[in-house]
Amino acid sequence: MKVTNPIGVFDSGVGGLSVLREIRRELPGEDLLYVADSGHAPYGDKSTELIEARSIAIVEFLISQHAKAIVVACNTATGVAIETLRTRFTIPFIAMEPAVKPAAANTRSGVIGVLATSRTIASNNFAKLHERFGADVKILMQACPGLVEQVEIGDLSDDKTRALIALYVEPLLEQGVDTLVLGCTHYPFLAPLIQEIAGSSVAIIDPSAAIARELRRRLTSAELLSIKGRTGTERFWSSATPDMAQTIISQLWQVNVAVSSWPSEAPIDAGRIFKQDACG
Ligand code: DGL
Repeated sequence: MKVTNPIGVFDSGVGGLSVLREIRRELPGEDLLYVADSGHAPYGDKSTELIEARSIAIVEFLISQHAKAIVVACNTATGVAIETLRTRFTIPFIAMEPAVKPAAANTRSGVIGVLATSRTIASNNFAKLHERFGADVKILMQACPGLVEQVEIGDLSDDKTRALIALYVEPLLEQGVDTLVLGCTHYPFLAPLIQEIAGSSVAIIDPSAAIARELRRRLTSAELLSIKGRTGTERFWSSATPDMAQTIISQLWQVNVAVSSWPSEAPIDAGRIFKQDACG
């Protein structure tokens, strides 16, 4: 493995670009590959089998592109598939974890809120976090159906997005929350609106920068960090329709980028199990 090999990053859609952005800040010399499985977003209303199958297919693709490490920039895929991925592949994985620990350290009211998809909230990883910190602080978990979809279409501040955020955040504020954890990688794109609705006294915690630092630590200890002074590149793939993918990724990345199609073969209808709440 060469130190100049790229880092693979993927998400159910465009949300992981919020993590990619922090990786770019932390590691300017690395080449980055990003796969958005927007053709299947949100993962929140798909079966475990489908999320695992999609995650495996994406990881195989990233490995075929010579990735030296893979960042699972999706809390839902982490919760559902990370154990399978770690068992199946030897490549280093860096995965998401809702930032409950820093939130527990930050809160003064003793009440923190976690905004996430229903799948993340129902995951084992999350149950473990709750066990670890739930004795010291009150943790209120809030599923946010619809928000992933709003980010996927680039509606970061329209009336519908605003109404959804108010619906999810206001009850948390009424219960004394002073710290909000963004437990889904799509939500950092909504952070300005969440902050506006929650008010300036509420802290918003996004784990993306910590994930980027963890990636640096892992690459350093594996002696895989790229050469100093090098300028890294980015390449993008998406399973959404090409025009849509190009528009949204360029909007969120804030640069006009080329996006290649990534084939999206896995059947999706057979896999739906959370149909009723279409959790975003
Ligand atoms: N960005 C994904 C996450 O962090 C969204 C999940 C979904 O597609 O449901 O969980």
